Amino acid sequence: MKVIRGLRGPDKYVSSKYHYDERGSQLFEEITELEEYYLTRTEHAMLEELIPALISELRPATLVELGAGSAEKSRIILSAMIAAREHAVFVPVDVSGDFLRGTAEALRAEYDSLDVYPVVADILDPIALDEALPHPMCLALLGSTLGNFETPHDVGLLRHVSAAMAVDDRFLLGVDLCAGPEKSVDRVEAAYNDSRGTTAQFSLNLLSVLNESFGSDFDLDGFHHRSKYNRELSRIETSLVSLREQVVRFPDEDPIFIAEGEAIRSEISAKYDRRTVEHLFSGAGLVVDQWMTDPDELYALVLGRLSDG
Ligand code: AVJ
Repeated sequence: MKVIRGLRGPDKYVSSKYHYDERGSQLFEEITELEEYYLTRTEHAMLEELIPALISELRPATLVELGAGSAEKSRIILSAMIAAREHAVFVPVDVSGDFLRGTAEALRAEYDSLDVYPVVADILDPIALDEALPHPMCLALLGSTLGNFETPHDVGLLRHVSAAMAVDDRFLLGVDLCAGPEKSVDRVEAAYNDSRGTTAQFSLNLLSVLNESFGSDFDLDGFHHRSKYNRELSRIETSLVSLREQVVRFPDEDPIFIAEGEAIRSEISAKYDRRTVEHLFSGAGLVVDQWMTDPDELYALVLGRLSDG
């Protein structure tokens, strides 16, 4: 069992993809509405402000959104696309097939002049797009989702994006910005340590997902949620810290011993600046075409294109 490997060594971790069962997705929706979690709100406001002009200039025929979820932000882009050329094609890519089918149906009902072709896939896998999809295309990765992936997975994802792009296509990336003079570490940490404890529930839910999916016996009361900003690596690191010495069992596996105070890393949420994005892009054959931030410099929308385009 792959998940066990991360729990055997001294630096314990579980892949953050296990957060998102139905309850986890619901808890994440709640996080996006929290006062402290500025990311979603800021990105949404930026999209509303910037997308109409951007789309009327680029006039994309197809939107490919990686990790589309409920397509809340896609609607802003799709409406602008339809306003610019009367018809649009939407290719939402997400791991959750059920969720995706629901989203596709809702969108078809909302827009007459939209074709929706959902693709069920892991966003870390190569992006297989139908040759017949009309260009120019806009590929989008929003919500600071990129921040969950460590190098080389982030570069791998960006390479898949550039491999799917033609010269006139564009990549729209949404990223949370590093703490700095304009943005305190406290502000970033508060987004992951909200006063209602929703983020803690979201983190601990990971252990329920493991119990459900792999038959383990994690006791959720035996751990607490910890999120801290790592200034050197400019990222939030989230762990589940063991409140006591304990033993966790998975079926047919040797037991896992966890010491009091020992941490299981459950998520990283990397933060960016223009330089780090340019660096990641250059490793993937992309360049920054436009760098846009909100007035408080909390968040950035980046428009990328092929570097040899
Ligand atoms: C959806 C991955 C962008 O890292 O900010 C929110 C997930 N985790 N609160 C993030 C999350 C804890 C979120 N991303």
